Amino acid sequence: MFLNNNPQLGQFATTVVDWQRKHGRSHLPWQGTQDAYRIWLSEIMLQQTQVSTVIGYYSRFLGRFPTIASLANATQEEVMPYWAGLGYYARARNLHRCAQELVENWNGRFPASAAEIASLPGIGRSTAAAIAAFAYRERAPIMDGNVKRVFARYFGIHGITTQQKTERILWDTAHAALSAAPATLDMPAYTQGLMDLGSDCCARGRPDCMRCPLQATCYAYLNATQDQLPTPKPRKSIPERHCAMLILDNAGLVLLERQASPGIWGGLWSLPKYDDAASLQAACMAWGQAGTPAHRMAGISHVFSHFKLHIEPWHVPCGDPIIAEPGPGQAWVPVAELASTALPAPISKILEGVYAVPNQ
Ligand code: ADE
Ligand code: SF4
Repeated sequence: MFLNNNPQLGQFATTVVDWQRKHGRSHLPWQGTQDAYRIWLSEIMLQQTQVSTVIGYYSRFLGRFPTIASLANATQEEVMPYWAGLGYYARARNLHRCAQELVENWNGRFPASAAEIASLPGIGRSTAAAIAAFAYRERAPIMDGNVKRVFARYFGIHGITTQQKTERILWDTAHAALSAAPATLDMPAYTQGLMDLGSDCCARGRPDCMRCPLQATCYAYLNATQDQLPTPKPRKSIPERHCAMLILDNAGLVLLERQASPGIWGGLWSLPKYDDAASLQAACMAWGQAGTPAHRMAGISHVFSHFKLHIEPWHVPCGDPIIAEPGPGQAWVPVAELASTALPAPISKILEGVYAVPNQ
């Protein structure tokens, strides 16, 4: 690590700012606003989701919930459809909870410092800093996954970046880089510039150092160790689970189940799920569909944070229409309403295989 005695440290931030102004992103829907609510929403959506996916969700969400108060006053059932398909649904539940806390304890506004923002539900240290830097120009450094990569490479910080010891060095370095920067530093441009470098020249895989403004003093470039930094995490194997899902197709109605919250897909609607095809067939018998042929459809897999789920969907077009009431937590949903139902992305995809469910 050549942070100590690095004569270029004072130029690091200004180099990033100059590059951001010329080559960084400047037309994203959450740029050019100082409204902490809008910035917060974008940062939460962008935590696990690509910019191109977020853009549509972002404007639909703001169209429906234009203010903190409108979000706080909504129910979770009203909020979830606007997150359906984005994944990592705890983000939406925390977002809703956070809006309510802002109304209850902060006069319906975001607190004025990164430290206070970081005390709110679902907002970590880096996200709080990004909000404060963009909305208030606070000199608070960020350190998200992309920025860790830029810092690890540029400053030559070895060690797995999710380990506490390495994280401490990364944060200390981020603070040092800011302390060495001029008092007039444009914080929104610096913060955006770090994010842009991490997703542009200094992307994962093979970085494009020839276009990088930091190249001349970059540790990884000078040592040709770009592919060793950041230190790769040992591949963790995640458990795999299998299940069968039932598309019980009842004269234009589909049986769906609302998922318990919190929990996987909490607050969203999913297909009835069984451990295996035999349990699914038994359920069909209980619906009086013993003689109906069940069609096994192409399976799909979905990776959650802690496991991988393999779904085997079975399509059962009912022989005779079922008039029975659905079970607790279940509903017969008209096919025409699927597009406006809060469905997880893999479930939308499965249903698209049977019905033409328009994309949200
Ligand atoms: N990822 C996280 N925050 C971002 C932002 N403000 N712009 C682009 N990508 C981001
Ligand atoms: Fe990343 Fe290459 Fe730039 Fe270094 S020179 S910061 S490795 S893109």
